[in-house]
Formats: sequence, structure tokens, C-alpha cells
Amino acid sequence: MIRETIVTTVSQDGRVHIAPIGIIADGLGWIVAPFRPSTTLDNLRAVPFAVANFTDDVRIFAGCLTGRDAWPTTAADAVPVPRLVAALAHAELAVDRVTEDEQRPRFHCRVVHAAAHGSFAGLNRAKAAVVEAAILFSRVGFLPQDKIEREIGNLAAAVEKTAGPDEQEAWRWLMEGIEAYYARN
Ligand SMILES: Cc1cc2nc3c(=O)[nH]c(=O)nc-3n(C[C@H](O)[C@H](O)[C@H](O)COP(=O)(O)O)c2cc1C
Repeated sequence: MIRETIVTTVSQDGRVHIAPIGIIADGLGWIVAPFRPSTTLDNLRAVPFAVANFTDDVRIFAGCLTGRDAWPTTAADAVPVPRLVAALAHAELAVDRVTEDEQRPRFHCRVVHAAAHGSFAGLNRAKAAVVEAAILFSRVGFLPQDKIEREIGNLAAAVEKTAGPDEQEAWRWLMEGIEAYYARN
């Protein structure tokens, strides 16, 4: 099972990095599998801790992919990596071991602390559609344009029918990002 989360990591010199990552359930722990090259990968090698932030604010998923990554953070309890203020819950992760891979090394992590901060407000189709569109946007470089456009077309109805202002904003950021990518390429 994969949970779509926002993973925070830090570099050797303490710079915080925020990225949407699908973490993979692994018994009581989680596997973080960043593609090469990525800042998340470099940070996990330099400082082997992370926070998995569970949030339903899909602007953070869309924002991180479209250059809007200054989301407020606050100190975690047991790891030297901050968590998102917007996390409804979070898990603090320590890397136990790494399975090396050419494309996508797997960092096997144990949970050293977890806490809840807010209540779950229920499912929303537009939030799910934004997460799917964010994944498509992260793959514009290698998926065919007609597939991206067809899938975005299918997702758009859920946004039109069920989005609130945050989901509309997140959707707009992604559509502008996709349009700008195809204008350049
Ligand atoms: C929902 C979602 C899940 C993602 N999961 C992963 C993942 O498991 N591994 C990964 O490398 N990138 C994943 N991505 C793409 C990264 O968020 C994106 O490429 C990001 O820029 C990572 O690179 P960075 O660490 O250099 O920022 C995901 C994107 C989304 C929207």
C-alpha cells in the first residue's frame, strides 16, 4: 500500500526540502523511494531522517511541483527534520537501511514518533483529482502528451463539481504548469 504524503528532509547544512512522495507500507515502518536524481535522495543520504506529513491540503502537492514550496514548518519531536504546520498527522522516520537501485533506491525507515494535530474532514473527489493531476504533471517529461491531456480531461469533472477554493487554486497551478511545459517543449 502506498500513502501519498508530503515528505520533509534536510540537507547537511540544514536546508529544509518539501516534496510529495508516495511512501510504501513496510510492516510497522515505511519505505521512501526517491528517484535519481532528487534533492530528497541527496538529503536522505546526508541526514538519514525524514518526516511523513499526512495532509489533505492539496495545494501543497500542486505547489511543490510548480515552484511554490515555502510551506510553513515547525520542529518535530524526535528527529532533526521539521514537520509541516499543515499536517493533520505526521510520522517521524529514521532510516534503518537502504536497498540500492540504479533508478530508485529504497530507504527502509522505522517510525520513531507519530502524532495527530487535526481532524480528518472527509473524502473529496476534487482533492483526489488534484493528487492524480500532480502525479501526471510530475511525469510530463516521459508520458505521451495525448495520454496526459486525456487523463486531465477525465479528472476535470470532479474538480468542476466538488472543488473548494483551495482545490481550484491547486488545479489552476497544475494546469498552468502543464500548459507552460508544452509551450516550451
Ligand atoms: C502524489 C505524488 C507522489 C510522488 N511520489 C514520488 C516518489 O515516491 N518518489 C519520487 O522520487 N518522486 C515522487 N513524486 C514526484 C516528486 O514529488 C517530484 O519529482 C519531486 O520534485 C521530487 O524531487 P526532489 O526531491 O528533487 O524535489 C511524487 C509526486 C506526487 C505528486
